Amino acid sequence: MSDSHDHHLELLTADQVSRSFSHLCSAILRPRIAEIGVTWQAWGAKDVHNRPCGLLLAKRIASESGTILSVVSLVVTPDERRKGVASRLLQHIRSAATQDGISRLHLSIPLERPCTAALHKLTPRRDGWTTSPGKVVVTLSDRCRVEPLLIRLEQSVARMSRRAQWHIEPYPRKLTSELQQRLKHSGSEPIGAPWDPADNSYSWEPEHRFSRLLRGDRGQIIGWLITHIAGIDLLRYGKLWIDPGWEQTGAPLALLCDVMRTAHFQHGIETREGELCCPVRRGCFISHPTNERLHNLILRKFKPVCDSWVEVENCLLNL
Ligand SMILES: CC(C)(COP(=O)(O)OP(=O)(O)OC[C@H]1O[C@@H](n2cnc3c(N)ncnc32)[C@H](O)[C@@H]1OP(=O)(O)O)[C@@H](O)C(=O)NCCC(=O)NCCS
Repeated sequence: MSDSHDHHLELLTADQVSRSFSHLCSAILRPRIAEIGVTWQAWGAKDVHNRPCGLLLAKRIASESGTILSVVSLVVTPDERRKGVASRLLQHIRSAATQDGISRLHLSIPLERPCTAALHKLTPRRDGWTTSPGKVVVTLSDRCRVEPLLIRLEQSVARMSRRAQWHIEPYPRKLTSELQQRLKHSGSEPIGAPWDPADNSYSWEPEHRFSRLLRGDRGQIIGWLITHIAGIDLLRYGKLWIDPGWEQTGAPLALLCDVMRTAHFQHGIETREGELCCPVRRGCFISHPTNERLHNLILRKFKPVCDSWVEVENCLLNL
């Protein structure tokens, strides 16, 4: 049996990752390969036969307390697992980060998954790792279970929005200067992070057919729900934003119902441009337990009908 020292580790360029390591990179992360060497870093491991067998991808995130290096993906080929490859990759990135003046290392651990035990062992408290509850990734695809919920939510929306002073409209195909201004304005308020198309840490474009804008009584933009295609047959509900003061008006739920109905339950929608969109089979979104109000709603309504509910733990190491 080989051990981790039979493996050769190296810092990789974007080109090396696309040529030899892309089988260790999920489809969702492949578009980010181009950023390796810029904001992303890649470390690879090769076995005794010089075959790529491990890949660690990490990205730099600027924060008020210094730069964080966040491990986005850590994968070892099944034949080479439990030989210390992941452990060595993590040690390497830790030393490199210390030398680069990075202040913290971050790793998200999905709970109750096959990889959870290994990731916990890779981030022991005795080495200084600390943990805190992180986001929850929710995926839905069972239309028979989801539709009754959608109908109930639509009924609530109908009740709540009887005297609605807002209306929903399609999301523009191209970013308008009005929307650009509006996104910028929300960014200056300390109440959350709106979607910022200028921030290149997002790897996606809005799926305009299944995204919506919300306008208030004076026609002003007061919110949006922006979705994007996150994989085959998978629509991610990426950004939901409602201006303060409008949260209790039924508008957030109305946006959600409108998009869910159109994306997953309407067949053969003929759009103005003559495109035919089939229902998208799966939807996913991230819920943050820190946003208590929304998270409680998701716990009560969506957890019972989802097909996957993955809680993530945030692990941090001060360097
Ligand atoms: C998680 C993963 C990267 C671990 O890689 P690895 O090279 O096998 O890990 P290591 O050999 O360095 O093992 C690290 C520790 O975890 C333990 N470990 C590894 N696999 C384990 C398992 N399936 N169950 C329990 N413990 C495990 C090892 O014994 C070791 O503990 P020790 O230091 O106390 O001896 C690998 O299993 C993998 O690629 N899984 C699929 C992809 C994935 O889910 N990645 C994580 C999400 S980003």
